[in-house]
Parts: sequence; structure tokens; C-alpha cells
Amino acid sequence: MKPLLIQGGRIIDPSQGIDEVGSLLVTEGKISWLGKGEATPPQPDYDVLHAPGLIVCPGFVDLHCHLRQPGFEEKETIATGTRAAARGGFTTICCMPNTNPPLDNQTAVEYVKSKAASEGVVRVLPIGCISKGRKGEELAEMGELASAGVIAFSDDGEPALNSHIMRQALDYSRAFDLPITDHCEDKALTAGGQMNEGIISTKLGLRGIPNAAEDIIVARDLALAQLTGGRLHIAHTTTEGSVDLIRRAKERGIKVTAEVTPHHLTLTEERVIGYNTNAKVNPPLRTERDIQALIQGLNDNTIDIIATDHAPHTEADKLCEFDLAPFGISGFETALGSLMSLVHDGQLTLVTLIAKLTYEPAKIIGNRYGRLGTLAIGASADVALFDPALEWVVDIKAFASKGKNTPLAGERLKGKVMATISQGKLVYKDESITVKERSSKGVR
Ligand code: DOR
Repeated sequence: MKPLLIQGGRIIDPSQGIDEVGSLLVTEGKISWLGKGEATPPQPDYDVLHAPGLIVCPGFVDLHCHLRQPGFEEKETIATGTRAAARGGFTTICCMPNTNPPLDNQTAVEYVKSKAASEGVVRVLPIGCISKGRKGEELAEMGELASAGVIAFSDDGEPALNSHIMRQALDYSRAFDLPITDHCEDKALTAGGQMNEGIISTKLGLRGIPNAAEDIIVARDLALAQLTGGRLHIAHTTTEGSVDLIRRAKERGIKVTAEVTPHHLTLTEERVIGYNTNAKVNPPLRTERDIQALIQGLNDNTIDIIATDHAPHTEADKLCEFDLAPFGISGFETALGSLMSLVHDGQLTLVTLIAKLTYEPAKIIGNRYGRLGTLAIGASADVALFDPALEWVVDIKAFASKGKNTPLAGERLKGKVMATISQGKLVYKDESITVKERSSKGVR
């Protein structure tokens, strides 16, 4: 494959403190050269992708998504999910183990890895179960899963409610230096819950899910992380209380990291009005007050990363009474566009946003799979290009994901992914982007 020059974009790479206009050369799947301003690479022959006006940054790294394969291929497959990820600028995605069978053994993990290698277009890193069958009763074979290459353990979709199991998981995971990702939900408080608990749930006659259901398990998990010295990762943080607990735990030196989703950062519980099942998600969309706490948490590094929790469902799954619909929002293809609203509103800087989507999640994964989330010379050529100001309308028919379940359908977003390069391959490009050949005679 010919080298590819990404020319004249604004290169932002928080891993190296770079924010300047320049060009980037991709050769044989790696970043091979980076030049400032008008500089051109030493070799004569390469293809050129003109990027003036575009942001050029490391491909996004998503620590939390659902690819549904094996078992729920009607909702998503590794082929469709990775293509949706590419359209969203993601080049590394970590898939949750709530498949059928669940990823609680080596064979299941190997299956996902081999499907990803043969049918995926971006890097897929599986997450293994904490407990056998995600039942919360008995620990999964964590050593076997670690050897199979999982990057974390989680029973996501379900909390690790048994404190003894959670303690053991945190304890054992130290041997592998892998995080335990908990879906923090006190099920005794959320039973039958459909949306955030408050005036709107009362008006709609839907059973509520109080903030305390999350806060209680976050507090317990932090205590267990302190007790064991294990690495705790809090999935989809949504409440002001959780942010406060995590902030104080970090001050005390507890090994905790936390994520927040684009939808919990940008949408409130009001989206449920009209019984919109595409706004039904777990944990639920909360209030403006929670959103402000989450944004503050991102800005002061209490919240380390942004993860999509891409949770595709079929149209039929969601086309039903509100309380029968499954929880989940299809997130890959709207993530950047919706997050950019926070940048346009001055609530987050562009550099912070990119760090939370690239370098910071890559740090949590570590170097097992090489250097990720960086444009450093020699690193895998995983690159996202986006137009920060382009306005577009969310067209679910154009989604690569099988999951059309987004409350953003038909809405105008400002900020669009224009091209994605994964391990040196152009895996997505907007139709307006062209790649031209250049030889010693110039660009043709
Ligand atoms: O909304 C959600 N959907 N939350 C979860 O925790 C699981 C996910 C799913 O698997 O659909």
C-alpha cells in the first residue's frame, strides 16, 4: 500500500502536547512522519488526503460498547458495529461481555477476537465477565480470561452486587493489572424503574430510578478498592453524588477511574417525555444539575474518559410500551457531533474533549496492544479527521449500525467525522473527501 499523507490539518494529539497545523504520513500501518506547517515528507511518492479546516487527531478509543455478537446478531454484529465505530471516528473499541454465551471463558473471547480479525474494520478488544454467566454468584476464570487478552472485567448490564465477589474480583485483578468495571446500580432501589426519579417520572406515571441507586454502589466499590488496592473503573457515571464520591476517593489515593457517556453529558430526562423509548437507557438520563457536575468532573479529571456505551437494539425491540422496551442508545455515530456541542458552548475545550476520547482511555488499557491513542512516530496509524464546524442532520437510515435507536434522529449536530484511518487503512470517509495520488511530478 502506498504511503498516505494527511496534509494541512490542525493536528491535535494530547499524548504529545501537539496542537498545530501540519501534515502526517502513514506508512505500512504506522505513523511514520509528522511535519509542521507546510513541510513535506522526505520520500517522493505518496497519496494525499487534503485536510485543511479539519482536526486530525488519534482515532478515538471507546472503553465501553456492546457489539452483541455472539447471540444477538439481529441487534448488531462485529461487522456492522465496527463499521459504525469507524463512522464515528473510533479505531479501538472495547466490547462488553453481555453476549450469549457471555464472554466468561477463553473460547468465547477467542471467538470475538477471530470474528473481529476477519470481519471487523477497527480494533476490537474484549472485556471479560467478572462472574460466571454474569450471575454474580461465582467468579469467572479471571486468569484464563486475562491470558485470552481481555482488557478489563465487567458484568455490565448487571452490577456486581455481591460485595464478597466484588472484593475477590478487585483482589485477583491486581495480579493482571486489569481494571474491574462496575455497572453501579442497587437493584433493590431500581426494581421496575424506567427513567430518572423525579417530577417527570411522576407526571408520566413511570417508576423512577433514584440517583442514590448509583451513589450507594459507587461508595461501596470505592471502599472495596481501598480495601484491596485493586483498580476500579466506574462505568457510565451519571450523578452529582457519584462525581463527588469519586473526586474524594481520588484525593485519598484510591485507584479509581471513571467514564461518562455522550448522552449523559448532553441530554436530560426531559427526552423521555412522550414516552420516547429511544431515550430509555440505563442508567437513565438525569437532570441539568447532574450534567453540570459531570462536566465539572471531566474538567477537573475526576472523570477520566468519555465512553459511548453504544447499545444497539432493533426497531421492534423499541417499538412497544415504554416499560417493555430494553434500555440502550446506539451511540457510535452521533458521539462526536453531540459532544462538540459542549465545545461550541465553551464548557469543554477541544483538547480536553480529544484527550478524553484518545489518550486517557488508552492509558487505562495500557500497552498490551501497543501504543494506542497517540500519533507518536512508530505507533499504529489510528487517526480520526473531523470538521468541528460542519452542521449535519442525524439520518438513522445512513447508520452503519443495525441499531437505529437514538433520541437524536433528525436532529442537527455541529461537528462531523470526515475520515477514519485504522491501522493504516482508510476505513471510513465522507463522500466529500478525496484521496489523490502524488508523485515526484506533483499531485494528480
Ligand atoms: O442502557 C443500557 N443498555 N445499559 C446497560 O447497562 C446495558 C445496555 C445494553 O446492553 O443494552
